[in-house]
Amino acid sequence: MKLFTEQELVLSSQAVLSHSYSPYSKFKVGAALETSRFIYVGTNIENRSYGLTVCAERVAVFSAVANRDRTFRRLALSSNTKDFITPCGACLQVLSEFCDDLPILLVNCDGKVKKTSLKKLYPSPFVLKK
Ligand code: THU
Repeated sequence: MKLFTEQELVLSSQAVLSHSYSPYSKFKVGAALETSRFIYVGTNIENRSYGLTVCAERVAVFSAVANRDRTFRRLALSSNTKDFITPCGACLQVLSEFCDDLPILLVNCDGKVKKTSLKKLYPSPFVLKK
């Protein structure tokens, strides 16, 4: 059962674009991760030591996990560009830790939505084989 509509999820990812801390790249990213009980949001948070920057997706995932909620359902990802952005490899690997597949809604600055999934973008995650 879904608690939120697609529009609510998309709007949540757009709403947090303005919270993005991105003075260096000026590239704003907003993520909204729907679980069975909540929508966890995240934005990219940059640092003057550039390598310490954290992507919006990981902020949302870590927030959900820190709230003991790993029941991931969908992810919406917004940017302030015409081009749709896809999660980076590091974020895809982090997502793959908590779910085999996940519908992902990519949202551009005009609010257009393109649908994809974790499996499509990242078919062969790293797994620890025993
Ligand atoms: N960024 C994200 O937040 N998510 C991604 O999947 C790719 C990149 C951020 C990191 C940095 O603040 C800016 O976008 C430019 O790389």
